[in-house]
Amino acid sequence: MRPYLKIRNLELKTPLMLASGTWGLGENLDLYLTKEEIKSNIGAFVSKGISRFPKKGNPPPRLYETPCGLINSIGLENPGLEVFKKDYLPKLLSYEVPLIINLHGEEVEDFVALAEGFKEEKVDGIELNISCPNVKKGGIAFSSDPKGVKTLVKEVRKVWERFLAVKLSPVGPVYEIAEICEKEGVDALVVANTYPALGVIGLAPLKVIKGGLSGPAIKPLTLRLVYELAQKVKLPIIGSGGILSGKDALEYLVCGAKAFQIGVANLIDPTSAVKIIQEMEELKKKHGLFG
Ligand SMILES: Cc1cc2nc3c(=O)[nH]c(=O)nc-3n(C[C@H](O)[C@H](O)[C@H](O)COP(=O)(O)O)c2cc1C
Repeated sequence: MRPYLKIRNLELKTPLMLASGTWGLGENLDLYLTKEEIKSNIGAFVSKGISRFPKKGNPPPRLYETPCGLINSIGLENPGLEVFKKDYLPKLLSYEVPLIINLHGEEVEDFVALAEGFKEEKVDGIELNISCPNVKKGGIAFSSDPKGVKTLVKEVRKVWERFLAVKLSPVGPVYEIAEICEKEGVDALVVANTYPALGVIGLAPLKVIKGGLSGPAIKPLTLRLVYELAQKVKLPIIGSGGILSGKDALEYLVCGAKAFQIGVANLIDPTSAVKIIQEMEELKKKHGLFG
């Protein structure tokens, strides 16, 4: 079967990807979906953010529900590169679905070491999470620092020839960073990560949770970014933000995205991928969209 989309070596059977951090490390995927359902509906997996060394993440509370949204403050808990490769990668690869590794680093050297660490593995690509703070620059997020992103992409490209995506933050100099990514040989932009947000969990004494907002609340904001970025850059855009239905997904595609990721949809219902693809295909036919 002809792939739905090919970007460098990455071949997607469908435009749907599972977004980073919203489906664990794949431990429970086959509790809800058959291997066939996974293979025929999920274009690619994007792993949880993987760092060089294990990370414990933040203390609770880590999740806070808002009207139409979810604030998360997981703190990028993950087992680190070596344990991930030994204990989780073999099962993920056994699904025969393209696998993209989301990388989390605190300095350029971390991202480079991680990319090198995956070179000998059968993974299809990497996605750089630039919402991480750059410790060498006093903790300012890579996403606020176009020069930092330029160096990051240049250095990673030196060691990584396969599919390379940058996951943009929706805040900061987004357009400037997108253009830098295009110039420096990135293959696709993931638009976008969560929005900085705060929830009040105690009034007196005041207790707050600071984290990233996702879910339907962010869909109109991210759709606007996708729409405008699609007119500014030639790079394929992968939309991510608030997709819960086939109609949401199609809205991203007609606004200029070539593929999309689903995040909180997986938390609400782990079979969402199948439902979203079915619904999207019906709507495409009904409206005569995309051939
Ligand atoms: C619980 C949770 C954990 C997440 N972990 C990561 C992560 O490790 N790396 C990353 O780049 N994005 C992470 N994200 C962001 C999602 O991948 C996605 O981009 C975002 O939630 C927007 O999509 P959605 O509205 O469909 O959820 C996380 C989101 C949630 C809700």
